[in-house]
Amino acid sequence: MERNTKIIAIANQKGGVGKTTTVVNLAAALSARHRTVLVVDLDPQAHATLGLGLEKRQGVSLYPVLTGEKAIADVIQPTKWPNLNVIPSEVDLAGAELEFGMREDRLEMIRSALAPVKESGAFDYIILDCPPSLGVVMTSSLVASDGVLIPIQAEFLAMDGLALITGSIERIRRSVNPDLELNGIVFTMVNSVARLTQDVVAEVRNHFGEKVYESMIPRNVRVSEAPSMGVPVVFLDPRSKGAESYKAFAWEFMAKNPTRFSALKAPAETVQESEAPTPAEAEPPAAEPIAEPATETAAAAAETTTA
Ligand SMILES: Nc1ncnc2c1ncn2[C@@H]1O[C@H](COP(=O)(O)OP(=O)(O)O)[C@@H](O)[C@H]1O
Ligand SMILES: [Mg+2]
Repeated sequence: MERNTKIIAIANQKGGVGKTTTVVNLAAALSARHRTVLVVDLDPQAHATLGLGLEKRQGVSLYPVLTGEKAIADVIQPTKWPNLNVIPSEVDLAGAELEFGMREDRLEMIRSALAPVKESGAFDYIILDCPPSLGVVMTSSLVASDGVLIPIQAEFLAMDGLALITGSIERIRRSVNPDLELNGIVFTMVNSVARLTQDVVAEVRNHFGEKVYESMIPRNVRVSEAPSMGVPVVFLDPRSKGAESYKAFAWEFMAKNPTRFSALKAPAETVQESEAPTPAEAEPPAAEPIAEPATETAAAAAETTTA
């Protein structure tokens, strides 16, 4: 079976819309479904790092890889959970906007940094947690990605915010990365009884059609409590509304974005309609350990990188 690694940037120039929460819980839910995942925390606030139970450590981030001081394999960290790995963030990344802004290869820098890991096929998904700005790091993340997932809140002017980021996606598609897709839009912190919510959701669905995920994430207190414990809510309280909705979302995401292909591959369209995984997606093959140790994944990436 081949594994075709997908790099997905989770981006929105606005802060506090649920990007990091979506990164952490999508990654966790995918890993529980036997997908191997690498989260790359590109926000100097390092909330994804902390939310996955890791600490910030100087020199352990994408930063030294971007400066050429370290190989990427040396900064991939396992988490407590199988299949779930992270490249943490650290304060050094805060200077990246200024420091790398003049670099000639600034648009390509993250793509080049991630290339050995993508080519190794060690991961199904590489999920990038972008900082909340349309700066160099976010742009370079979009250049590196196969798709962009936009978490948004159903609030006043949501469409304006969407226009900004989809404009960026379009510009990058026309210039450096013609393969970049709008992976989708997911509503977060939804209060489904509010009239405004219903109107905004209807407007966005009307405009973006099937790009909008069916699953919506409700506002849920367990979701907001989980980060302080360093455990994704899908693991901390799997029966909570927040966790259930992130799991449903991850299932939808996985069906829309298959990474494993076999001779019996079913067309992606059929998968979407039925919301069922392809035979190749449903269960990992017997030969593959169900819980692939995170360290092995990192080691596999290391081999490819140093080879
Ligand atoms: N579904 C949710 N229910 C309740 N609180 C949430 C939910 N999603 C996110 N939050 C909280 O909202 C705040 C912003 O979320 P975060 O994911 O950090 O946004 P971003 O990364 O876009 O800045 C955090 O305190 C987070 O815990
Ligand atoms: Mg964030």
